[in-house]
Amino acid sequence: MTYLWWQKGIVYQVYPRSFADTNGDGVGDLRGVLSKLDYLEWLGVDAIWISPVYPSPMADFGYDVSDYTGVHPIFGTLSDLEELIERTHQRGLKLLLDFVPNHTSDQHPWFREARSSRDNPKRNYYLWHDPRPGGGVPNNWLSVFGGSAWEWDAASGQYYLHSFLKEQPDLNWRNPEVRRDMYAAMRFWLDRGVDGFRVDVLWHLIKDAEWRDNPPNPDYSPDQVPYNALLPTYSTDQPEVHEIASEMRALLEQYPERVLIGEIYLPIRRLMAYYGTSAPGAHLPFNFQLITLPWSAQQVSAAISEYEGSLPANAWPNWVLGNHDQARIASRVGLAQARVAAVLLLTLRGTPTMYYGDELGMRDAMIFPEDMQDPQGKQIGVSRDPARTPMQWSPGLHAGFSQATPWLPVGYDYQHCNVECEAEDRFSMLRLYRRLIELRRTEPALSVGCYKPVLAQRQLLAYLREAGDQRFLVVLNMGSRPDHLSLSGIGEGEIVVNTDPRREGERVTNRIVMLGDDAAVVRLRPH
Ligand code: NOJ
Repeated sequence: MTYLWWQKGIVYQVYPRSFADTNGDGVGDLRGVLSKLDYLEWLGVDAIWISPVYPSPMADFGYDVSDYTGVHPIFGTLSDLEELIERTHQRGLKLLLDFVPNHTSDQHPWFREARSSRDNPKRNYYLWHDPRPGGGVPNNWLSVFGGSAWEWDAASGQYYLHSFLKEQPDLNWRNPEVRRDMYAAMRFWLDRGVDGFRVDVLWHLIKDAEWRDNPPNPDYSPDQVPYNALLPTYSTDQPEVHEIASEMRALLEQYPERVLIGEIYLPIRRLMAYYGTSAPGAHLPFNFQLITLPWSAQQVSAAISEYEGSLPANAWPNWVLGNHDQARIASRVGLAQARVAAVLLLTLRGTPTMYYGDELGMRDAMIFPEDMQDPQGKQIGVSRDPARTPMQWSPGLHAGFSQATPWLPVGYDYQHCNVECEAEDRFSMLRLYRRLIELRRTEPALSVGCYKPVLAQRQLLAYLREAGDQRFLVVLNMGSRPDHLSLSGIGEGEIVVNTDPRREGERVTNRIVMLGDDAAVVRLRPH
């Protein structure tokens, strides 16, 4: 069995605004990413996914694209991006772009034309609707960022749909011209050697043709975001979306070894359809369960089993621990458990995706209200800024991110939580990540071997990873009290990676004692 790079490899998400600034404007750029390739190679990741760098008015920090085949000057030039593709490839790394097909910016030439008059040829690129009889929005659909998903366009006398900001009008994917033009944009980048795409909100692309009202969510409580008041039954996850995913996949198949990753927040059963229904869909529909589930051994174990058991034949699993829309793992579960989470992410079966800075244990930073940048925070009070602060490279000025004041403040902990200090400290999160990545890279049992659950009891989660006669036992203590696991029926071996490096090399025979917040990868003796 041969495995492709995106099955064996590890994906590392760079949020380019916040990674490294080389031109002194306080915003990260593509030359910044180029300047950190040594680091990424040292860390051992395989593919870099960069959040959008296209021209954009930045209403949603690049997820509002005004030109799908360009580069925003704040990030650099097209030739910087071409150089990044070339230099990642020279090092054996891959480069993935973020593709944002659900909506454009309201400043995209298509939308400017579309709104200019009802009979403009581009009108049908977007989703327009007359008011309800008697007036008012066409239906009850909500924007993810709060309020109605419909915006009134007085000049042309109709509403247009925006699932996110009003500056992000939704494209009409039932229009073959939209498909043609968007696929041409994907081809533009594939021809330049991009290794694949992370597709933004893939499950949103098609909406109910009859524009039916969404039903109320019976489980809604006011502590949730307003969007959750309704179930998005008719505005997302429509059957026809799979045809689009298959078309994107077919396009990628015209190039060797490209990968299609879909951003999809859905329950497992619905998620699985994104691998493809009648034709292949995404290679990797993002699996966000480690982000959305409570941090408990039982729940995580049950979710792994349900996920493993639901995968269609030949579908490759994947796991995501963090991204630019979610609180950081070290803030969700605490620093000690974030180490346990690292062991989990990098020993599960399936492609892991890591978020920049999580390998340092960066936490959600404190942002004063007057410094808030995120439109979601401004509109519904749930800001994503704390997880988007500058990468912490050194204990120096602005954590080594920039010579200028960064666009978001640097985390308070940067003087010890940074690459320079952590690289020297064998107890650091960074060194733990590096050991785990190195082990995963050298042991097929960990990257592509099978997964066998062992136990989920009290706060312990244990499983086996096996390939041929190579066997690893992974034991995670997801609580802070000590515990132990009997090894009878499992075998004996030696701890090869542990959250506490002093335990590495320890032999385990009858049982393994686990400290609080402890996680161990044990190489078992062959039977
Ligand atoms: C998902 C992206 O990850 C998020 O950052 C963005 O705001 C929305 N899609 C809208 O594009």
